[in-house]
Amino acid sequence: MQKDKPLGTVIEGSLSEGLVIKLYPHVSVEEMRVGEFLVIQGVKSRFFCILSDVKIDHNSPRLMSDPPRPENSFMAEILGGSSTFTILQLEPMLMFTPTLPGKAEDLTVDDRRVVDAIIDENNLAINPDLKLMPVKTVPSHFSQVYSALENDFQTVFGSENDPRKKNFSIGRPLDMEVPVCIDLDRFVERSNGIFGKSGTGKSFLTRLLISGIIHKDAAVNLMFDMHSEYGWEAVSEGKQFSTVKGLKQLFNDRVEIYTLDPESTQRRGVGNAKPLILSFDQIEIEDLRLVSRELGLKDASLDSAAVLEKEFGRHWISQLINMTNEDITLFCEEKQGHKGSIAALQRKLMRLENLKYIRQTCPHNYIDNILESLDAGINVVIEFGSQSNLLSYMLATNMITRRIHGRYVKKAELFLQTQKEEDKPRQLVITIEEAHRFLDSSIVNQTIFGTIAREMRKYFVSLLVVDQRPSGIDNEVMSQVGTRITCLLNDDKDIDAIFTGVSGSGGLRSVLAKLDSKQQALVLGHAVPMPVVVRTRSYDQQFYREIAQFNERKIIETNGTNGTNGTNGKNPSSNIESLSDLGF
Ligand SMILES: Nc1ncnc2c1ncn2[C@@H]1O[C@H](COP(=O)(O)OP(=O)(O)O)[C@@H](O)[C@H]1O
Ligand SMILES: [Mg+2]
Repeated sequence: MQKDKPLGTVIEGSLSEGLVIKLYPHVSVEEMRVGEFLVIQGVKSRFFCILSDVKIDHNSPRLMSDPPRPENSFMAEILGGSSTFTILQLEPMLMFTPTLPGKAEDLTVDDRRVVDAIIDENNLAINPDLKLMPVKTVPSHFSQVYSALENDFQTVFGSENDPRKKNFSIGRPLDMEVPVCIDLDRFVERSNGIFGKSGTGKSFLTRLLISGIIHKDAAVNLMFDMHSEYGWEAVSEGKQFSTVKGLKQLFNDRVEIYTLDPESTQRRGVGNAKPLILSFDQIEIEDLRLVSRELGLKDASLDSAAVLEKEFGRHWISQLINMTNEDITLFCEEKQGHKGSIAALQRKLMRLENLKYIRQTCPHNYIDNILESLDAGINVVIEFGSQSNLLSYMLATNMITRRIHGRYVKKAELFLQTQKEEDKPRQLVITIEEAHRFLDSSIVNQTIFGTIAREMRKYFVSLLVVDQRPSGIDNEVMSQVGTRITCLLNDDKDIDAIFTGVSGSGGLRSVLAKLDSKQQALVLGHAVPMPVVVRTRSYDQQFYREIAQFNERKIIETNGTNGTNGTNGKNPSSNIESLSDLGF
């Protein structure tokens, strides 16, 4: 198939329901792939479209009852294009109307090549003022349809080398080797999601995107690394055992790892991880509310918690845990608490004592340290090690985020008042996994994550939610998710959720359901001008070289090798030893 020759022609369609294209007989239906990026050259405008469906059709009832026999390929060829033909369904997404100097009136509708030449000659394709508009109309009848060429991708998605933008290539189109970029400045200013069923490449995509954000300095990151796979080495599935580098290995001193399970972190040979300890007196009732389901707390228990907090102040949890039955009875007599619910609360909160990172009190405020790092532009990855059960993950994530968000609100308000550039908070991206647990409709109004997702860019904090069950996320939050990067999903409810708040997305459902099961994604939303299907950029040796050239030498010095085979990573200067001072 010659890429710059027309594939077919527009025969009917509408803006709301998409365009119907009849394929020319010389193009085989089997060359067309759902999700492909196609271009229609209209008389004045060029339309960028996504292929959402293919259909083979015929116009003769006789053919149905008497199809040509297998040996009669001649007959099949004769019928092809007239009696039997292929129909494409296209969703038009963007259009651009170049003001073509002079020769414009000579153009005929099927002359993409002439238009290209004029665009090239006048540097229109890379013209920053070139306005790509959402489609407001459709191309006229019999406009020609083409495969997208490299310059179409560049026109729409830009280039990584564009000095005016923080573009980052996240993959390539299905059948071409041109990078597809997302605009990281736009990406980080809203909350975003990476979705897909298990094993489709979410964690790899997350690592890739965060690498891009760090590399291009688009924001500072705080990652709640449930499975300890972002900070340091992570295992890659495959026939042979292999590992990939974590962010600390790629970016060295621009990333700090904190750990809630120092022993596990130490066993994995992670360099320079810092311990993170939280204490009972840092837990507020709001923090418990988020994990009430995991702890089995009823509303009555939370009411009792409020009574206890009023009485004992910050230390209420330690006080409660140390109470005997008699103490509880006495307390209830004096303060009108409910004995049963206080006893239940005590029993349930005792589970928190099993969490490795929780102490009765802690003289040091580790959350302040994290904030200082973030303020200095250092990215923080918090590893959970063995402490990754949902209760533990949600409690720590919520406690830390609530406090960090609180400070960001203050900083943002100061900036609003002074409007001085030096007071401007650094954009912060918080990555959470199993996001639907934090954002489901029943709790979303009470949790910090719902607040962050809804308040958008107001306080310079946004979320990157990683989830395999987007249908569990509250609709309102989902419609605020700016950019959605979605790998394969099978469940209809999950697929629907991806398109919450996206108008005219009907045709894209089929695209999503037909993705490959690994390393393919549909990217749509705020950071890309139009939806696009990509083969995700490989996170491998070549990527390390491309992204981390500037500190490759440092990595070799730190690790002794730059391989990915899992033997590296022992950092002699690791300060984990000092953890013993803290009782580990
Ligand atoms: N961008 C990528 N580069 C290299 N390998 C990838 C990429 N995406 C997915 N893979 C392969 O697919 C496997 C599953 O990806 P992973 O991100 O762990 O899935 P998920 O987090 O969705 O369960 C990985 O172990 C890796 O082998
Ligand atoms: Mg994963």
